[in-house]
Amino acid sequence: MSFDLVLFGGTGDLAWRKLMPALFQAWRHGKLPAGGRILAVGRNALDAAGYRDWLQQRFNDLSGPTRPSAEAFSDFAAQLHYLQLDLTQPAHYRRLQRWLKQPKAEEGRAAAADTVVLYLATSPHLFPQICEQLGAVGLNGPEVRVVLEKPLGHDLESARAINRAVGAVFSESQALRIDHYLGKSAVQNLTALRFGNALFEPLWRRESIASIEITLAESLGVGTRGDFYDRTGALRDMVQNHALQLLTMIAMEPPARHEADAIRNEKLKVLQALKPFDAHSARRDVVRGQYRAGVCQGRAVPGYTEEGSVPAHSRCETFVALRTEVRNWRWAGVPFYLRTGKRLAAGSAYIVVNFRAVPHPIFPGPHPANKLVIKLQPEDGLELHLLAAKGASGLETLAPVSLDLDFDKAFLEDRVGAYERLLLEAIHGRLNLFVRSDEQEEAWRWVEPVLQAWREDDAAGLGPRPYAAGSWGPAGASALVARDGFSWAEEQ
Ligand SMILES: NC(=O)c1ccc[n+]([C@@H]2O[C@H](COP(=O)([O-])OP(=O)(O)OC[C@H]3O[C@@H](n4cnc5c(N)ncnc54)[C@H](OP(=O)(O)O)[C@@H]3O)[C@@H](O)[C@H]2O)c1
Repeated sequence: MSFDLVLFGGTGDLAWRKLMPALFQAWRHGKLPAGGRILAVGRNALDAAGYRDWLQQRFNDLSGPTRPSAEAFSDFAAQLHYLQLDLTQPAHYRRLQRWLKQPKAEEGRAAAADTVVLYLATSPHLFPQICEQLGAVGLNGPEVRVVLEKPLGHDLESARAINRAVGAVFSESQALRIDHYLGKSAVQNLTALRFGNALFEPLWRRESIASIEITLAESLGVGTRGDFYDRTGALRDMVQNHALQLLTMIAMEPPARHEADAIRNEKLKVLQALKPFDAHSARRDVVRGQYRAGVCQGRAVPGYTEEGSVPAHSRCETFVALRTEVRNWRWAGVPFYLRTGKRLAAGSAYIVVNFRAVPHPIFPGPHPANKLVIKLQPEDGLELHLLAAKGASGLETLAPVSLDLDFDKAFLEDRVGAYERLLLEAIHGRLNLFVRSDEQEEAWRWVEPVLQAWREDDAAGLGPRPYAAGSWGPAGASALVARDGFSWAEEQ
């Protein structure tokens, strides 16, 4: 299979920090199909050699194991090309069309590719225009797929507008919305655990599960991206997309087939079953916070409004914790807690499935109930926390042990990173791990009452609650779970 992968935004931060390293890893693992060309697009006047030099310089900033040797980079770079285009100029799209349709031998292939993946890694305000112009030059045939990076809109209306613009040119099956959490190995393993084994599914319900927690914690602040972040906030940046996508993977019914629409139909049903917020519950069940100066991982750090390019009186939330429920037979009454924030005590992301306590304890206790921990960051992994007999006398005491359910370790293969997996899925046209437009719009619909309540609170002078950098967020977040008799799991 021959392919062309075009990176709009090929000189951007996302391209050099995530996408190109992921493509390099895919190539190194021998997973990138032979006969492929990778085309970076940007406005700078570069040729292929200039772009390769630029990228090699950037790669020097990557951390040790992901940094290629000069020799490996040069082999990989043979597939890299560059085209100078201004995506706001309709006339420039003809150049792209010519490059794709009439390859030159020195570019590595004599015929047009079987598959063309157009990855939009630019600001989303360009997406409608890019799609329209791609359609105008006929770059929307059945061999073409378009990959859309987040953020896809800032509310339901703007998300719909982007989807309409994309949908006017590309069919739903050609439009691949990225949520990189879905590409993580632990999420793949969760699906395998649930639907590839008979053991867990009978327990995966309200009768056996007491609560579910999703924590996506960052120790970093907004850094130099304050301007972008202040227009976005944690609810839009993390909850509407990543946290809700993870929730759907946990809560969905078993799909009838391991096939994109069967999976996405089940995920959509979860989103539709989420307990809706109203003006009252948006204030009772959602906590928003903003970090103040503090000590994070041993270092004194400034507060959010002291970061560069953040307005001094910003009311943007850098932390959200919320409680919701999935209103169906499987999950009725089981609280789902989501928590995300910047400048928290640790940079770690995990899901904890808390099982119920044994109905009749016979060992001297108390003991923690079983839990399944799905680790997403910094390392992927799956652990089942159990209790085992401890000591020579056998049944006298129970002690916690954890069972490593990380299936990847059983296979002596290189671990596949999230972007690497998603890029390969896009090239192969497998849609299972991409978000369908109706899922994305349903997620926006669900967060809208919260955004509305915050707008009203802002107007009334009620901003986010402060928390010290390096803490686990405002005290209200602990109170939210304590109300139900729970506490957040310690860092995993
Ligand atoms: N950075 C991340 O880690 C990250 C993570 C998730 C999602 N995202 C999203 O991904 C998108 C890109 O982010 P980024 O951080 O890579 O942004 P960035 O560093 O500002 O890069 C923007 C890219 O778009 C190109 N571009 C802008 N206007 C253009 C035009 N008129 N014609 C052609 N190219 C144009 C720029 O190329 P030239 O300036 O060279 O022309 C550059 O390559 C954003 O929507 C962002 O929210 C980023």
